[in-house]
Amino acid sequence: MTDFPFDRLRRWPDIEAANLFAYDATDKLLLETAADALRTAAPGDTVVVGDRYGALTLGALHQNVSGIRTHQDDLSGERALDASAASLSITDAVTHAPLDASLFRDARVVLMQLPRSLEALAETAELIARHAAPGVAVFAGGRIKHMSRAMNDVLARYFGSVTASLAQQKSRVLVARDPRPPVGELAWPAREFHADLGLTVCAHGAAFAGTKIDIGTRFLLEFLDRLPDVPRAIDLGCGTGVLATLAARARPAMQVIASDSSAAAVASAQQTALANDVADRVTVVRDDGLLSQPDGSSNLILLNPPFHVGATVHAGIAQKLFDDAARVLRPGGELWTVWNSHLGYRPALERTVGATRQLGRNAKFTVTVSTKR
Ligand SMILES: C[S@@+](CC[C@H](N)C(=O)[O-])C[C@H]1O[C@@H](n2cnc3c(N)ncnc32)[C@H](O)[C@@H]1O
Repeated sequence: MTDFPFDRLRRWPDIEAANLFAYDATDKLLLETAADALRTAAPGDTVVVGDRYGALTLGALHQNVSGIRTHQDDLSGERALDASAASLSITDAVTHAPLDASLFRDARVVLMQLPRSLEALAETAELIARHAAPGVAVFAGGRIKHMSRAMNDVLARYFGSVTASLAQQKSRVLVARDPRPPVGELAWPAREFHADLGLTVCAHGAAFAGTKIDIGTRFLLEFLDRLPDVPRAIDLGCGTGVLATLAARARPAMQVIASDSSAAAVASAQQTALANDVADRVTVVRDDGLLSQPDGSSNLILLNPPFHVGATVHAGIAQKLFDDAARVLRPGGELWTVWNSHLGYRPALERTVGATRQLGRNAKFTVTVSTKR
């Protein structure tokens, strides 16, 4: 049992609330299950993937593992890891790395929180199989309620051996060994052409909706011909960049910033903009909300807000993005939002941004335009 002080980890600067936690039983079980492998790992052998708020990386450093490469899809997770390292006076260098060959090159131990989507798992497993050392051991853990047989099957496509640990506190670890690199080109990002929109969507495994078009997004697109013709717009929480790309195409003089906190999203949005010949007017940035955008700098913001924080439904994230939009819009600028009608966001939009009118409503979604007061 590791004596790492898990209780001192925080989610900050991400949203903190009584029902949101900085670590879980899976983090502890992963560190315990991998303890022997970590003990014999040489500096630089160990890779961590999907570390929510730093528990795996900082827990492994606490077990004297050094030279860890860590990939966290969400920027707030990276910032929380760095903040917790500072507050725990952990000075060992952690390399934040993108999800690519460089992350896994010659790795011998991989610790991973299982992602929610099978596509994200497949992309990670394929990269490990192609680039890690032949003797690599992959420890992939999750909450049992979020795990399925299909996860074993995905790992079994890329590894000769996949075994499961005993369950502990409702978590389980899958251990994969004997990598089997696939022949041919890397399968990621995936691409799909949507003939009805004349749009190619590119998606890395962890990007929201993959190569599909979300039904809320699709409803917002019905109103695209009413977009104001303004010089600068932002697609806030851009995912694969569908809104940014189609807005740029609809308004040929418009410069669009596509912004998301997810590494998979921004990598996908960049590829989507390129595939549809608008990359010269779509600038893609990884950002937590609109932290890097100046006050009053945009005329138009498009938003299909998330309502999950990790696996937990939480309204705080939408409010945080409304706050950011209100700050970054110039007076008279517009926030276009699509939301699941039962969430009733209109009072929050009125309060935070300004007068809000309904553009449309169907059985499930509402599209509103809020004008910055
Ligand atoms: C409902 S999806 C919409 C994606 C895309 N705009 C679309 O319409 O398909 C919400 C997006 O918000 C992003 N997101 C969540 N929290 C964020 C934050 N704090 N800052 C920026 N983006 C965030 C997620 O990564 C996700 O891509």
